[in-house]
Amino acid sequence: MTEFFIFCNLKVFWYPDLPNGRIKLLNFYPISSRNPDALIFLLLNMPVQIIVGAQWGDEGKGKIVDLLSAKADIVARYQGGANAGHTVVIGGEKFVLHLIPSGILQPNTMCVIGNGVVIDPAALLHEIEMLKKQGIQVEGRLLLSQRAHLVMPYHQLLDQSKEADEMQKKIGTTGRGIGPAYVDKAHRLGIRLIDLLDAETLREKIGLNLQEKNAILSAVYGKTPLEAEAILQDYRQFAAQIKPYVADTSHYLHQAMAENKTIICEGAQGSLLDVDFGTYPYVTSSTPTSGGACTGLGIGPKKIDTVMGVIKAYTTRVGMGPFPTEIHDELGEQLRALGYEYGATTGRPRRCGWFDAVVANYAAQINGIDSWALTKLDVLDTFAEIKLCVAYRYRGKELKSFPAEIHVLENCEPVYETFSGWQQSTANVRTFEELPAAAQKYLNAVQQITRVPIQIVSVGSDREQTILR
Ligand code: GDP
Ligand code: IMO
Ligand code: MG
Repeated sequence: MTEFFIFCNLKVFWYPDLPNGRIKLLNFYPISSRNPDALIFLLLNMPVQIIVGAQWGDEGKGKIVDLLSAKADIVARYQGGANAGHTVVIGGEKFVLHLIPSGILQPNTMCVIGNGVVIDPAALLHEIEMLKKQGIQVEGRLLLSQRAHLVMPYHQLLDQSKEADEMQKKIGTTGRGIGPAYVDKAHRLGIRLIDLLDAETLREKIGLNLQEKNAILSAVYGKTPLEAEAILQDYRQFAAQIKPYVADTSHYLHQAMAENKTIICEGAQGSLLDVDFGTYPYVTSSTPTSGGACTGLGIGPKKIDTVMGVIKAYTTRVGMGPFPTEIHDELGEQLRALGYEYGATTGRPRRCGWFDAVVANYAAQINGIDSWALTKLDVLDTFAEIKLCVAYRYRGKELKSFPAEIHVLENCEPVYETFSGWQQSTANVRTFEELPAAAQKYLNAVQQITRVPIQIVSVGSDREQTILR
């Protein structure tokens, strides 16, 4: 570092000797809502960037990560498991990724699955096979953390049995065994990838787990106990196929950072599904928020340069739980049809509603979001009126911050500002200035109310259908 200067509310360090003349942002001050554009060129040059979902998942993270990974050396997933479904469309061809980072579709990007992810080996191998069939080379480009925990058949059975049990609170999980796998991790009964590679440890740990799980499966859910030998045989086969990918990925990333490589940390799910900050208990069992990138990859917080939040131009949610701006009439169905809002993992119809700035502000706060990638603007193209929720009203009082109490969220009313629709197609627009004036007004309102600049606007599922500001 050779120079230091103050520029437009920002303190920046200038590294002239780094590739692309990289600039490192030292500190963000509140951004002047009059000129968020001044930031954009800085943000494109960040070596370590987190991409995080800012709503209830399915914001279009896959599309954005794919797009940005054209310039990245490494894309690393830091939490979740095969509950995720990240869709990328390239020249009309669709790829759906569950465990493998979305960077795999750029030929020169390395991919890492970090220790914070729970890996179902059968799902992973299936995904590798699918990608191979679609002409994508995975071998030599994917590293799996030795410390990542495995999803086992009993996790899936426990997840599905709990969801089917009338006596239990239904969350509407994906049934992929995610919750029970994270329970075992915290309970110190989990089986890690490193254990998978050691036949004796694997046998011992499966045996130990089955003693407990079979008791629960049969006594609580009336299921037939699982056979240790059958699981062992399957997982030994998985071990042989997965071994070449297993590595010390924290060390790998540390070395990459020392060489100033560009790294994208890819979040799965969304901030409102975070086990700490989401609409608990209607959440997933991991930490999708940006803090999860450090613990889920083994990198220090000072290494993170920037956080980008991915947010839809409206809101969706799959599964149960409060959703203040949900639309219950045919307008909601219209949004679902136009946005093709069906789960990429389970095919379930997604619940749809208006953009919720209370949620967006909360997500900006808990993640430290520096910029937005706003997706699916085109889905609003035909609406005569578009609503944006600026606050909640609960028992006559206006709430501007996101409440923790589920019963408040379930019973609050959204306070809306109404915008005129633009009623013309944005699908072929490629610059902000070419967007219809009403669309610009809507986007400017999102920027102003969230005090976060919009860096990317997506106007279609294809890689090309993107406005980079
Ligand atoms: P993720 O889980 O956050 O990666 O999002 P999903 O892939 O589950 O869901 C987003 C869906 O919207 C996918 O089908 C994408 O192909 C699609 N998509 C992404 N961006 C856009 C956009 O700007 N416009 C439209 N119409 N579709 C988009
Ligand atoms: P991506 O990465 C949307 C939801 C489920 C359920 C809750 C808990 O594609 O955005 P789980 O199986 O994780 O225990 O389910 O979380 N959920 C998602 N919703 N997108 C996802 O992932 C999701 N992953 C889990 O629907 O409500
Ligand atoms: Mg998804």
